[in-house]
Amino acid sequence: MAGSTFGKNFRVTTWGESHGPALGAVIDGCPAGLPLTSEDIQSYLDRRKPGTSSLTTSRSESDTVEILSGVYEGVTTGCPISLMIRNTSQHSKDYGNLRTTFRPGHADLCFEEKYGIRDHRGGGRSSGRETAARVAAGAIAAKALKTLGIEIHAVTASIGNVTVPAELLDNLDNASLKTAYSLHSVMPDKSLDDAATELITKCREEKDSVGGSIYCTVTGMPVGIGEPVFDKLDATLSHAIFSIGAVKAVEIGDGIAVSELNGSENNDRMRAADEGKVSFETNHAGGILGGMSSSAPIKIKAYFKPTPSIFRPQETVCKNENGKFESTELTIEGRHDPVIVPRAVVVVECMTAITVFDALLENMGSKMEHLKKIY
Ligand SMILES: Cc1cc2nc3c(=O)[nH]c(=O)nc-3n(C[C@H](O)[C@H](O)[C@H](O)COP(=O)(O)O)c2cc1C
Repeated sequence: MAGSTFGKNFRVTTWGESHGPALGAVIDGCPAGLPLTSEDIQSYLDRRKPGTSSLTTSRSESDTVEILSGVYEGVTTGCPISLMIRNTSQHSKDYGNLRTTFRPGHADLCFEEKYGIRDHRGGGRSSGRETAARVAAGAIAAKALKTLGIEIHAVTASIGNVTVPAELLDNLDNASLKTAYSLHSVMPDKSLDDAATELITKCREEKDSVGGSIYCTVTGMPVGIGEPVFDKLDATLSHAIFSIGAVKAVEIGDGIAVSELNGSENNDRMRAADEGKVSFETNHAGGILGGMSSSAPIKIKAYFKPTPSIFRPQETVCKNENGKFESTELTIEGRHDPVIVPRAVVVVECMTAITVFDALLENMGSKMEHLKKIY
């Protein structure tokens, strides 16, 4: 299988399947000298962990990370960092009927036709569990970025028709982030969380699921991070976020809304600011111009489809003993979130961290001045 590695400089490879003994990540290219403990990683994993609320899957995993290499006496050594998370709550028998039957909205059919063999238990490599490895790796990138004054925060922006107003997303502060991280929906407002909880509960009762969106912002970015042609920062961020299961759209800044604006409305006016810097009066561009960071906050929105595993009978296909497709009806078992978004918030944050840290490392060779400082 190609494509399990992301990044050029801070290279993250994830491995493992939902119902195998463990899953994890290998990070090649993390600079030496970053203080790192398993607690730094665990605090991020705990935000993704299943079984923490009635709104999420009851699969109860501790998601405990083990650092196997690349860290000595609490500091990264520059060697590959290997991280492992054991799977401890597999209920593989729930998936017995999926050996030859293909779930609507899942990767099952494509895996079968592409590889001719697949681990049908819990979606195998396409499971949402794979994102635990991304979160573990992303926590390291986020810690490195923090030491450079760059902070990344994500919250739920919508669940079904319950939407956080743009003004609240644009003005996230420590208090609203604290609120979001204390609520099951990860929305930065208690009354919106109540409305979302009601909607999700109704979905669960109706054996259905619901989609939503996540807002992510990066602050403290220096100007010029990102490569201006194929590796534009908006392109690599979109790649990173589209690679998360169930993501169906990604917007940067005002996203698709700019297609209805005039240039006079959309252009962010610039002004000379203190210390020889530039300030922007507005941020329709979402902090990226020409594929490079402008120094304004980066604004990303990721849109998720409803959880594909629903507990209603669904029309689908199975393969008979002659290897031919037959129409059939399937009722899915197992433990599934009626909404993916709350658990994916930290995944979006971590994929953003990996992408931004990778781009920062790439930028070190952008001018002789940088190289002279180092060498
Ligand atoms: C954090 C996370 C958790 C997920 N949990 C579930 C789940 O419990 N049940 C499910 O059917 N899909 C879940 N998914 C989504 C599926 O993995 C995904 O929809 C499926 O593999 C098909 O891929 P696609 O939606 O990108 O086409 C989850 C995704 C993420 C990111």
